[in-house]
Amino acid sequence: HTFVDTDSAEHPLRTPKEPQNKVTVVLGAQWGDEGKGKVVDLLAMDADIVCRCQGGNNAGHTVVVDSVEYDFHLLPSGVLNKKAISFIGNGVVIHLPGLFEEAEKNLRKGKGLQGWEERLKISDRAHIVFNFHQAVDGIQEQQRQQQEGKNLGTTKKGIGPAYSSKAARNGLRVCDLVSDFKVFEEKFRMLAEHFRTMYPNLNVDIDSELKQLKEYTERLRPLVTDGVYFMHKALTGPSKKILVEGANAALLDIDFGTYPFVTSSNCTVGGVCTGLGVPPSYVGRVYGVVKAYTTRVGVGAFPTEQDNETGNLLQSRGREFGVTTGRRRRCGWLDLILVRYAHMVNGFSAIALTKLDILDTLPEIKVAVAYKINGQPLPSFPGRTFPQGFSRSIFLFFFFLFVRDA
Ligand code: IMO
Ligand code: MG
Repeated sequence: HTFVDTDSAEHPLRTPKEPQNKVTVVLGAQWGDEGKGKVVDLLAMDADIVCRCQGGNNAGHTVVVDSVEYDFHLLPSGVLNKKAISFIGNGVVIHLPGLFEEAEKNLRKGKGLQGWEERLKISDRAHIVFNFHQAVDGIQEQQRQQQEGKNLGTTKKGIGPAYSSKAARNGLRVCDLVSDFKVFEEKFRMLAEHFRTMYPNLNVDIDSELKQLKEYTERLRPLVTDGVYFMHKALTGPSKKILVEGANAALLDIDFGTYPFVTSSNCTVGGVCTGLGVPPSYVGRVYGVVKAYTTRVGVGAFPTEQDNETGNLLQSRGREFGVTTGRRRRCGWLDLILVRYAHMVNGFSAIALTKLDILDTLPEIKVAVAYKINGQPLPSFPGRTFPQGFSRSIFLFFFFLFVRDA
């Protein structure tokens, strides 16, 4: 056997004992829409590289610059910083028309996005979301509704079906698209056929999608890079500030969220390593973004939900409409059990508390401090939850905060 000593000073892949450039991470600590975009925008001002590591255009991050409201779904919000490079990692699933349309829409809004193609890099290993993935997302939701009487309330952006293709190992990646279109076309048709067999009523125009993909390929090619090598150079080279913008949130995580009412990726800190190719020792600060109350879009457990006047007030004062789907968000009190659970998984270095001012007009604010189920206190957020049953059968201990004139 020959062992290569990567620790020797001359070796090009030498891992420094103390990583030079640690990665700062911003993650959602509830069910999404905590205000990650705003926190990222603040930190991105002096970042050199801003990355997305998971999810797709199911995310929706709003950033206001010079009174122009930009909204991002696939692009890292850091793309507004003209001095930074934005990077879409291998863990992200990319709908190409979605990506280019998002850029063009934001370009029309203001000057912020000018020159975006020069500062965006995309990992060659990222998987592609096709139109048929999005159509299948819709069909699956319909089937759930018919068979179980309820759906998940997905964003219908094809996220679940695209990650399913990735796990089934017949997905297609950015590197497949930009290297040999003939081979790509063959695999693409096979994948489409596979979904057509599973969903006979799937109605998509494969030929026109292929034509469109071919057009996008030319624009995409200059943006594509070997993602692992790109990150390695960024981590081990001259001092660089690297920021990761989490999408979705801890309670939507495929492993740690309220399964099955979750998204299809790891939105907790582990997703940073697997979605970018970053060794764990390079992860530095992890900021959890927490909204001063709780919101949720779509179906699933929500113990502190206020399906009443209070909920309506939070919804209207907080302008709680989804950036991606325009849906009204469900609203309720801050749930500290849930935030602590997110902290157990992510090990937050600090928390960014957003939208406190929305609570300004309330004389009394509640926060959940304990759960009891059938008279028994729960030590932590449980693994098994139900869309309504969990919220109903759980007894919540609230802490009251009385707010005086401040
Ligand atoms: P940001 O990054 C709020 C929710 C959807 C649905 C479930 C699964 O803006 O905080 P999917 O389309 O991912 O298969 O849907 O997850 N969801 C989000 N809700 N904010 C998000 O992201 C979300 N991403 C996914 O509403 O219930
Ligand atoms: Mg959102």
